[in-house]
Amino acid sequence: MPRKKPELIFFHTSNRHKLDEASQAMSKLQIKIRSLRDISPSISVVEPQGENCAHVARSKIMQVLHLVEDKLNGNWLMVEDSGLFVDALGGFPGVYSSYVHSTVGIEGIVKLLEGKEDTSASYISSIAFWDGERIHSVQGHCKGRISPESRGDAGFGYDPIFLPEEGDGRTFSEMNLREKTSLSHRTMALKKMVEKLNFPSI
Ligand code: IMP
Repeated sequence: MPRKKPELIFFHTSNRHKLDEASQAMSKLQIKIRSLRDISPSISVVEPQGENCAHVARSKIMQVLHLVEDKLNGNWLMVEDSGLFVDALGGFPGVYSSYVHSTVGIEGIVKLLEGKEDTSASYISSIAFWDGERIHSVQGHCKGRISPESRGDAGFGYDPIFLPEEGDGRTFSEMNLREKTSLSHRTMALKKMVEKLNFPSI
């Protein structure tokens, strides 16, 4: 039984790039994505030490929902946790992506891969969302390779060294928002969200 499409989804994130990507992906369905900060500017949650992105996203949404459910006015809420998983490094930096990026940075990842033949990696995005009745979880993947040199200025995080498998040889940072969104792990997770609830596809 198809469900009614939401008009607005509040996204709990402080990352402008994640918001822009989600807005771009959902615009085809005329679903607006707004930062939860617009209605709840000072919200803060404990960053859980989860063993995977799905666990972290779920734990965060339960905390956030508890704080803002009465402000949502029937609109949906989503939380995302994502990371870069490099195969030759046993999935590192994975759930530590944000910390590793702010400490050793992308140069650190490139260094760890020096001399290794296998440079394959995946981005994973786990989205936990509240549809007014219950919490759902979905996950999206984007396979690719790590570039030995950093290229491009767009995007964020590891985008200057991420070469998506379905791309044309450019890193995510060399693509515009529309191009990255058409391939990203975040869009794949949002597609699963749409499929799961059985309203028209993006
Ligand atoms: P979190 O989901 O906010 O905990 O952060 C995940 C971290 O993974 C980010 O800080 C980035 O370093 C990395 N990451 C996740 N998704 C992307 C992406 O689309 N591009 C680049 N880096 C990403």
